[in-house]
Amino acid sequence: MSDSRQDDIDGLTPEAARSRHARLARKIAECDRQYYQFDAPLISDAEYDALRRELLALEAAFPELADEDSPSRRVGAAPAPGFEKVEHKVPMLSLDNAFEENDLAEFAHRVRRFLGLGDNEELIFQGEPKIDGLSASLRYEEGRFVLGATRGDGRTGENITANLRYVEGIPHQLQGSGWPRVLEVRGEVYMSHKDFEELNARQQAAGKKVFANPRNAAAGSLRQLDASVTAERRLKFFAYAWGEISELPADTQSGMVAAFARWGFSVNPLSRLCAGIDEMIALYREIEVMRPDLDYDIDGVVFKVNRLDWQERLGNISRSPRWAIAMKFPAEKAVTIVRDIEIQVGRTGVLTPVARLEPVTVGGVVVANATLHNADYIAEKDIRIGDHVRIQRAGDVIPQVLEVLLDKRPPDAVPFVFPDRCPVCGSHVSRDINAKTGEPEAAIRCTGGMICPAQRVERLRHFVSRDAFDIEGLGKKQIQAFFDDGLIAAPADIFTLEARQQAGEIDLRQREGWGAQSMANLFRAINARRHISFDRFIYALGIRHVGQATARLLAREFQTPENLARAALAANETGDFSAFTAIDGIGEVVARTIADFYAEPHNREVIARILEQVTVEPPPAVAGESPVAGKVVVFTGTLETMTRSEAKARAEALGARVSGSVSAKTDYVVAGAAAGSKRKKAEALGVRILNEREWLDLIGGK
Ligand code: IVH
Repeated sequence: MSDSRQDDIDGLTPEAARSRHARLARKIAECDRQYYQFDAPLISDAEYDALRRELLALEAAFPELADEDSPSRRVGAAPAPGFEKVEHKVPMLSLDNAFEENDLAEFAHRVRRFLGLGDNEELIFQGEPKIDGLSASLRYEEGRFVLGATRGDGRTGENITANLRYVEGIPHQLQGSGWPRVLEVRGEVYMSHKDFEELNARQQAAGKKVFANPRNAAAGSLRQLDASVTAERRLKFFAYAWGEISELPADTQSGMVAAFARWGFSVNPLSRLCAGIDEMIALYREIEVMRPDLDYDIDGVVFKVNRLDWQERLGNISRSPRWAIAMKFPAEKAVTIVRDIEIQVGRTGVLTPVARLEPVTVGGVVVANATLHNADYIAEKDIRIGDHVRIQRAGDVIPQVLEVLLDKRPPDAVPFVFPDRCPVCGSHVSRDINAKTGEPEAAIRCTGGMICPAQRVERLRHFVSRDAFDIEGLGKKQIQAFFDDGLIAAPADIFTLEARQQAGEIDLRQREGWGAQSMANLFRAINARRHISFDRFIYALGIRHVGQATARLLAREFQTPENLARAALAANETGDFSAFTAIDGIGEVVARTIADFYAEPHNREVIARILEQVTVEPPPAVAGESPVAGKVVVFTGTLETMTRSEAKARAEALGARVSGSVSAKTDYVVAGAAAGSKRKKAEALGVRILNEREWLDLIGGK
C-alpha cells in the first residue's frame, strides 16, 4: 500500500471509513462470487489484491469494521447450487500475499519474532510453486478415497468426489503402507497448457465455449454434474497440504509432502527447503525463470515454515496461516506487433480504441487484442499501426499496451488519427467536457444518440424510464427484447406498435408469455403517454448533461419543441449561445451540447417522428397564470412525494382552492394510494381524477 493511501485512511472519519469499508466489502463479495461460482473473474488478480489490501488497512485503522461478515474473515464464495455441500472440519485457508522481496524478509522476521527465535537459530522454509488452479480436499478412510470437495467458502465446499476420481495424481486407493486411518489430503487441481490448448481447439471446432485460461478450463471441467465430461478433460493434481488427519506421518512440511508422494499422490518437483531469506529469494527467482517453460500456470512461490510444531504455534490469522506466505509474480509481459487499431462504440456512445495484435502467448494465454483506453492514451504513447509494443496481461483483464519499442518502428508508420465520425453510425463525435469545470475529458463520444445502433437500446430505455415517458409495462427487459426482435428501433416506433399490430405487420400475441390481455395493457399504457409535458419530452431525448432540472428550465424558457429546435440551430450557426446561457442554471457547456445535439440531422429526424405521434403540452405558466388558479382540488389517499399539508400548501400557493369533499364543483381529485370513497364519488360525478404524478406534471413538477 502506498503512503498516500495510508494517509487517506488515517484522515478518515469513522463514518467515512465505514462507508468505504462497506463499498469495498460489496465489491470484493461480488468479485468472489463471480470468480468462485462462475469462473468469470471481474477484475485482474492485482486489482483484487489491491482491494483486499485496502480493506485490511481500513480494518487495521478501524478495528470495529472487522466484523463477522467482513470479507477478511471469509475465503472464496459460498458454494454454487447443484452439488451437495460438504463441511470442512478443518477450514481450507487462503494465503497472505507478498509482492516484493522486502515483504518476504518482513514475513521471515515476523515468524522469528513470534517464535522468539534468536538471529542465529535455524529457521527453515519449504518453498513450493503456487499452482494456479483450484484447491480440493480429498478424504481417505482406511486408505480408500471416500470424499472429495472443492474449497467453496473455506468452511463449506461442494461434493465433487465423482469428478475427482478422474483426476490424474489422485489415487483411489493409497499405495505403500503406514497411512493414517483418516487422512484429508489437499492440493491443487489444474490443467496443463497442452491439454488446455487441445481442449480449446476441440471446443472451438464444436462451436462450444472457449476458455480464457487453464484455470477457468480446470474449474469448468471439475464442476461438471456429469463426471464423464471431467474424465475427458485430463485434469491433474499436486498435493501440498492436509486437513483432518488421525495421525501425522512426519513432523515437517517437506516430510508430509514426501509421505503423500509415497502414498501415490503427485507432488510438485520444484519444491525445495530454504534456510534463510537469501535462499528463499534465490528459489523464487529460479522458479520465475522456469515459469515460461513449465507446462502449467503458476502465479508465485509459497513459503511455509517447515517444522510442524512451529506451524502449530504460529496458528492462523482469520483467513490465512501465520506460517506461510505467497510471493506473487509480477504481471506477465510480452512483445508483439500492432496490426490494426479499431474503434468500438459502447452503450453510452464512448469510442474505445482497441489494438488488434499479432497473436502472442502471455502466461499460457493467447492474446490478440489490447485496450488502448482512449485517444489520449494513444497519443501519449504514440502507438502506431505496425509498431512493436510491450503488452502486459494481469490476471484475466483485457491486456494493456505498456510501451512502444521505438527502435523497431517501421519507417512508414504514421501517427494514429482518431476518427471524427462514429464508425457505427457515421455521426460526428465530440470530446466530453466536464460540465462543472469546463475542462475537456478523455472520453470521445458519438453524438448519434438515438440513431446510433450501439447506443439505441440504452437511449430507448431512457426514453421510457420513469422520469421520462414512464410507460408502464415497458421496462428494460421488454425494450431489449422488442429491440432484438426488430419491433422497436427508435422512440417513435413505440407509438406505432398498435397500428402495426392492427395492420397485421407484427403480431405481439406470438411473443412468449404474451396474450391479448398483456398486449391490450401495453397499448393502453402507451396511449396514456400520447400527451406529455414538454420537460419530460426534453428529458426523454437523453441529451448529455440535460437532466430533469435542466429540462424543466428549457421547457419553461422555450415553451414548444419547435422554439427549442430553432434556438439550438441558430446558436449552432451563429456561435452565439446566449439564448441558452441567459437562462439561470444553464452554462456554456450545456448550451453547446444542446446545440450539437440539434445540429445532427438524425436527431432532428428522430424528434420529428416522435412529434408525429405525441402531443407535447407546454409547461404551465408560473404563478399568476397558474393552470390550477381558481380550480377546486380535492386530495385523497396516501401521497408518495409529499404530505397532505404540503400538497395543500403548494396547491394554494398556485391559486387553487383545496376542499375536503368532492362535489359537482370539484375540478380535480388527486388520488394517491388506497383512495376510497372520494375517488368513487368523483368517478360517479365525472370529475377529473389525477394520480400524483399527473398532478405534479400539471403544476409543472414543482
Ligand atoms: S497452501 C493453509 N500451497 O493458493 C494453506 N496453497 O492463495 C493452504 N495454492 O487456496 C494453502 N499452490 O488454492 C498452498 N503450494 C501451495 C499452493 C497453494 C497453490 C493455492 C491454494 C490456496 C491458494 C491461496
